[in-house]
Amino acid sequence: MNECVCDPCDTKAARILVVDDEPANLKLLSLMLRTDGYSQVELLQDPRDVLASYRAARPDLILLDINMPHLDGYAVMDQLRSLSDPLAPPIVVLTAQSGEEFLLRALKGGASDFLSKPFNRRELLARVNNTLMAHLAHRLIHDQNHVLEQMVQQRTQELRQSRLDIVRRLGRASEFRDNETGQHILRMSHASALLARRIGWDAQACELMLNASPMHDVGKIGIPDGILLKAGPLTSDEREIMQRHTTIGADILSGSGDELLDMARDIALSHHEKWDGTGYPRRLANTAIPEAARIVAITDVFDALTSERPYKKPWSVPEALHFMNEHAGRQFDPQLLRQFVTIVPEVQQIRERFAEPQLPVDAEADMADIAESR
Ligand SMILES: [Fe+2]
Ligand SMILES: [Fe+2]
Repeated sequence: MNECVCDPCDTKAARILVVDDEPANLKLLSLMLRTDGYSQVELLQDPRDVLASYRAARPDLILLDINMPHLDGYAVMDQLRSLSDPLAPPIVVLTAQSGEEFLLRALKGGASDFLSKPFNRRELLARVNNTLMAHLAHRLIHDQNHVLEQMVQQRTQELRQSRLDIVRRLGRASEFRDNETGQHILRMSHASALLARRIGWDAQACELMLNASPMHDVGKIGIPDGILLKAGPLTSDEREIMQRHTTIGADILSGSGDELLDMARDIALSHHEKWDGTGYPRRLANTAIPEAARIVAITDVFDALTSERPYKKPWSVPEALHFMNEHAGRQFDPQLLRQFVTIVPEVQQIRERFAEPQLPVDAEADMADIAESR
């Protein structure tokens, strides 16, 4: 950021625009201001030029005559007010007129102060100085607020980014303990965000889904190798321990109060719940299962079915959909599954984009469940 060495409240460096159709008045005012040290004084004889001049070099103060040909001072003030400039400069009206009616009209029109003709030098300089001081202080506060707002925005963005970074690393850590590939995680998380979008989630919530769903199996970090990596089928005791990856995952992710981690916790805890209440760990049913988890239940299984595993060939998309439709209302939320079917072409594109570079290394527990129930 460039640091300005000038004093933002230096009144003598302020830009003053003087508008008067009388050249003699312009000359006099200019002289008074310049001899008092004001270095940036612009003089305008034609009020029709005010807007252009204002836009070209925004003044910090306008000294404005009222009675002028073509456009009187009130009309000029109307023009300036229509710009809705939040940092509009103060206007000091120059007039030979007096009287309550006139003063009220000028005040309502946007004038901050008055200077009566003929000008009194000391009065003029005092009013100019006071008006400028107030305006420059106001502008300084406004600028500082703007800088602070930008800093807060930048810090918030940095925090969001570092939170996302940590969450992604946590997701990566869980991949090392999992028999699923990184590509599977990418496919199912993108498909989950797509399905969320399809059912009307807003862009921010879909972004959360994209980043939260990769952690659905993070609890496998807490499952012993002997069970997690076992090649053969699990005993019922082992299966029970394996199922704890849901509650372990929820333990890891819960308690932060962060919306991303909260969604990740819901998904980790409930992605093995079934629509008919026969899932685990809490045997939740129907809409008692968080929607995010119902989405992941569909995209996770679809990707597992259509992927190659050491013990099975990949199922075709129609085969996978046929199987899943048979389990609609039992394992899967039937309405969500219907919506999923409508986005299968896009899901196919995701599968091509994140295709497996090589064979996955191990069998997958969720798949074993499905293969058995088939
Ligand atoms: Fe799982
Ligand atoms: Fe998975």
